Amino acid sequence: NWSMETFIEEKIKEIRETVGDKKVLCALSGGVDSSVVAVLVHKAIGDQLTCMFVDHGLLRKGEAESVMETFGEKFNMNVIKIDAKDRFLAKLEGVSDPEQKRKIIGNEFIRVFEEESQKLGEFDFLAQGTLYTDIIESGTKTAQTIKSHHNVGGLPEDIQFQLIEPLNTLFKDEVRKVGTELGIPDEIVWRQPFPGPGLAIRVLGEVTEDKLEIVRESDYILRDEIKKAGLDREIWQYFTVLPDVRSVGVMGDIRTYAYTVAIRAVTSIDGMTADWARIPYDVLEKISNRIVNEVEGINRIVLDITSKPPATIEWE
Ligand code: XMP
Repeated sequence: NWSMETFIEEKIKEIRETVGDKKVLCALSGGVDSSVVAVLVHKAIGDQLTCMFVDHGLLRKGEAESVMETFGEKFNMNVIKIDAKDRFLAKLEGVSDPEQKRKIIGNEFIRVFEEESQKLGEFDFLAQGTLYTDIIESGTKTAQTIKSHHNVGGLPEDIQFQLIEPLNTLFKDEVRKVGTELGIPDEIVWRQPFPGPGLAIRVLGEVTEDKLEIVRESDYILRDEIKKAGLDREIWQYFTVLPDVRSVGVMGDIRTYAYTVAIRAVTSIDGMTADWARIPYDVLEKISNRIVNEVEGINRIVLDITSKPPATIEWE
């Protein structure tokens, strides 16, 4: 009979035995898995753990601040934020192919991680939030291809660290329970999935600062209204997309020619298949009004009503 208190106690003991007085590095993304690993390892070895949080400039509004506040201040952990926005944006300049964007972001992430971790000194161990499902899914060739495509935060295979993977016997729901038991806030424990390449695959076509800003602001409004409507646990993922389409509108007595924002919201069990979420009309109305009023450069909102398959959850 699995109890999380016992699990946590045992893992803490195990981590202490393995690590001794050596140093551990952890790549913290603010996602559920890396957050739980970081807090668990911190509980075991305290300041022998250093967390590195790479801000690639493709995060949602408020995300970097919230990671630093939660882990740096509330949990009093050693968290180092790497501001790598300019590097990532420069690498993405002129690139519009989705797979190309993923590759560039994945490679740049590894490069930044390697460079910055070397600056921080010597580490013997790397703590990772590998789950049981990640291990099973890597079992077959096809699954591995899917996985590598999805895990942009993945690290190079020739890395010189020994791995610590305390969650590798757990399923997602168990990780959430451990997270709650460790005192990690609900916003993180119940956070919706967010792709490694971040908002770069929600700005269709070339990624620019201006377009990122539109997606970031509209996404923030959408999340706010979904939360206010109490729908945040029911809907698997909800976000906005900037499809690189402009259309004619009217404001006062002038015509506008501005961007369209699409709302994507889906229900799902595991992300493999999905259905479009039936958000009530009055909630949609509020979201739409707020986005066109509050985000500059937008004059039209559309709703994505396709399931997966044939569509995917993300637009790229
Ligand atoms: P799709 O769009 O393929 O997405 O239906 C299924 C799930 O995977 C997420 N996703 C990604 N996650 N890197 C990630 O870490 C990626 O490149 C990536 N692409 C899609 C997507 O948000 C959804 O949860």
